[in-house]
Amino acid sequence: MTNPDPLRPLVARPSSALKGDIRVPGDKSISHRALMIGALAVGRTRIEGLLEGEDVLCTAGALRQLGVEVNRIDAATYEVSGFGIGALTSPETVLDMGNSGTGARLLAGVLATHPLSAIMTGDASLCRRPMGRVIEPLARMGTRFDARPGGRLPMTITGSRLPVPIEYRLPVASAQVKSSVLLAGLNTPGITTVIEPEETRDHTELMLAHFGAVLETSSLPDGARRIALTGQPELEARPVNVPGDPSSAAFVCVAALVVPGSDVTLRGIGINRARIGLYETLREMGGDITFTDQREDAGEPVADIRVRASRLKGVEVPAARAPSMIDEYPILAIAAAFAEGATVMHGLAELRVKESDRLSAITRGLESLGADVREIGDSLQVTGAGHVSGGGPIATHFDHRIAMAFLIAGLAADGPVTVDDGRAIPTSFPGFTGLMTGLGADIGPAA
Ligand code: S3P
Repeated sequence: MTNPDPLRPLVARPSSALKGDIRVPGDKSISHRALMIGALAVGRTRIEGLLEGEDVLCTAGALRQLGVEVNRIDAATYEVSGFGIGALTSPETVLDMGNSGTGARLLAGVLATHPLSAIMTGDASLCRRPMGRVIEPLARMGTRFDARPGGRLPMTITGSRLPVPIEYRLPVASAQVKSSVLLAGLNTPGITTVIEPEETRDHTELMLAHFGAVLETSSLPDGARRIALTGQPELEARPVNVPGDPSSAAFVCVAALVVPGSDVTLRGIGINRARIGLYETLREMGGDITFTDQREDAGEPVADIRVRASRLKGVEVPAARAPSMIDEYPILAIAAAFAEGATVMHGLAELRVKESDRLSAITRGLESLGADVREIGDSLQVTGAGHVSGGGPIATHFDHRIAMAFLIAGLAADGPVTVDDGRAIPTSFPGFTGLMTGLGADIGPAA
């Protein structure tokens, strides 16, 4: 949105059946964690399948500024050489986390308990997003933050020399906040505890255990989860194989469902149960989606996913499912527009503080395609009639997922759909256009 380069509008046209057997880039959440935890381990961590998206490359760049060796060996293969917890050094220049909320919030946790001082910033979108949600618990551990009013980037982080462990109950269902506190707990003596009332993705817990940290997870009588991390472990370098990102696969999956005659297989996709709410929902809508060859890699469950074109019907999506599909509402809203009947999605307040105000971006975008869409408080209702008209240009607000979701709509709409800008797509899904066109989709630059 504020990038000085000119906008790059893209157009997607009605396409014939999508067919193919593909992989999508590595999981964004796991890629950030592999780099950061690898940087805190002793020895050389080899990461295969790392997402080479701009968000993750910003994290790699920031770690280099903090004294860590991060080497690209080959496409998607990296080696991180760490010197153990506490060994990061003050960066000489500002850490620029680009568009990445995950990079910024998780790294803030890592830095919070290192005896160093760093200035962190990001692009205009990231500088509008709330950092108070991590500043608040990390300040309780002894870290000093000087942020812009409202807890926004840029901010200076002065890590605590004598951090104190805390017990923190998450006020919002956020894996980023949970992870930030746990990562700060690594260089804190004693036990750091996070209580999450609603389950969020547990990639940090799984990856920490993979590197040798001691964590205990238990359920509380009120149904909340309690995660207790023993501080100052010695993490040992471990190989990591990053699975395909289910949030990226989601775009291909919905495309295959709505473009008649399609049959697509996605290989090696992460199916962590805290990430697959979309797949559950699409199945309830009548989507023909099967998980085969289920296996495990570095503690993460993985499967191949086969998707065949299906007639979809509207469903009610409960608020309790939101954390397991928080990034998937833009593409679910598109699926809902092609379905028959009303799909009502509840518990979407967090969508307002993503890379853009996604609730509003989805609503405005679908309105301009002539769909029947209504925002009701924190819920969204999309009433489909089995087809969608073309249109645009859709305002994407430099949000990768808004851009990709509306391009998918264009593949099955009555006419082309244009999005105003595709420059944000490589933050999470480099190669998106090429991969889709390889399946038979008609997506390209708009005239
Ligand atoms: C992420 C957590 C989610 C998600 C984001 C990645 C993570 O954010 O939207 O894309 O890797 O922990 P919140 O923690 O804000 O829900």
